Amino acid sequence: MKVAVIGKGGREHTICWKIAQSSNVKKVYCIPGNAGTADVAENVVLEDNSFDGIAAFVKENEIDLTVVGPEDPLVEGIVDFFQEKGLNVFGPSKKAAIIEGSKIFMRELLQKYGIPNAEFASFTTAEEALGYLQEKGAPIVVKADGLAAGKGVIVCDTMDEAEAAIKQVMVDKAFGEAGSQVILEEKLIGEEASYLVFTDGKTIKPMVSSQDHKPVFDGDKGPNTGGMGAYSPAPVVTDEVEKKVLETIMKPTVEAMKKEGRKYKGILYCGLMITKDGPKVVEFNCRFGDPETQALLMRLESDLAPILQACMDGTLAEQEVKWSKKAACCVVMASGGYPEKYEKGKEIAGLEEANSLPETVVFHAGTSNADGKVVTAGGRVLGVTSLGATINESIGNAYKAVEKISFEGAQYRKDIGQKALNR
Ligand code: AMP
Ligand code: GLY
Repeated sequence: MKVAVIGKGGREHTICWKIAQSSNVKKVYCIPGNAGTADVAENVVLEDNSFDGIAAFVKENEIDLTVVGPEDPLVEGIVDFFQEKGLNVFGPSKKAAIIEGSKIFMRELLQKYGIPNAEFASFTTAEEALGYLQEKGAPIVVKADGLAAGKGVIVCDTMDEAEAAIKQVMVDKAFGEAGSQVILEEKLIGEEASYLVFTDGKTIKPMVSSQDHKPVFDGDKGPNTGGMGAYSPAPVVTDEVEKKVLETIMKPTVEAMKKEGRKYKGILYCGLMITKDGPKVVEFNCRFGDPETQALLMRLESDLAPILQACMDGTLAEQEVKWSKKAACCVVMASGGYPEKYEKGKEIAGLEEANSLPETVVFHAGTSNADGKVVTAGGRVLGVTSLGATINESIGNAYKAVEKISFEGAQYRKDIGQKALNR
């Protein structure tokens, strides 16, 4: 079969790399891809990047399955669009992807079905939001309702910060229409973890647990990023916690979506806070995580393409999903200055040497080819990922590979996985 993957980040390189290994996959396209996807797939830069343009390419090239990497097209309804045209596509429908597309929808769903939630309230005016803030006090989390490229969440420890955040979202419209409604949430306290599952709307096949590192600097300092590294498994997700996550969060959520007439097919990603009262939901995403995917798919022993197809066909119960007992660690190398302003076009050295280390794959995020050289083209540049018999070993292997790679201004966290080792 022929598969197309939509996207250009580390997540999409990893999906392409894994799908290219599926026994029945003859060809992989990545739309538009990066310098790394070019090694395992054919990059396709379309002039017309609309749903129509992508669908036309897929039809013309007789592509059997299209996998959607990022959330925006899913929330905008690319799956419905493809299906109306009779094209086979992986991901949730627009009605289901709203679980990520509207934070208010998500919180209200959890509330309605008694799923472990944060206390919250939503508002359409700054005055009302400020009134609620006076009542509740800080700390509090202020969020734009809609998608804001991962930036619409402001965790506020003081009243001043919270007032400024509400003004930023509602008055200054810093996140555009995404902030036409604002949601104020209780700040959940604990350790975060990521828990992803495959689902066909009735059956759930869990992935192994993982943990992201959102702040840019060591020790969780500095502003939040898309994610500076990940590892799997996350020891904070003990067998007991995992059972609770499945029984009190993942299964009831999939069931609730079905009851709401929003049957969820695809990958359901839950951002968890493991609080002293048990696991609670921080967020839901309607797609693979980045950089969790790099660590997770290194551990997936089964073919990915048939699992994705089974999610859409409703046959996931019959599908084997097998995970390696090994641990995986992904260290993100980013451009100097990220997540604020950074330069692009820096030549990257040492990729081959790093890639040739045992059980290591250098996944590309923001890279491109220029005159036969690989250069930086984004904030997050690479996801250097290794397996190991233990988490400690996978961390060691990943950092050995990181040391082989250099580009001007490169920055990376030195403490990926430390939380797992400290436990
Ligand atoms: P999100 O964009 O929803 O992934 O949120 C970004 C980050 O903000 C999360 O990874 C958490 O660290 C933090 N966050 C979001 N909501 C809450 C909450 N209710 N309590 C504590 N932290 C939160
Ligand atoms: N790693 C966070 C995310 O994918 O949303």
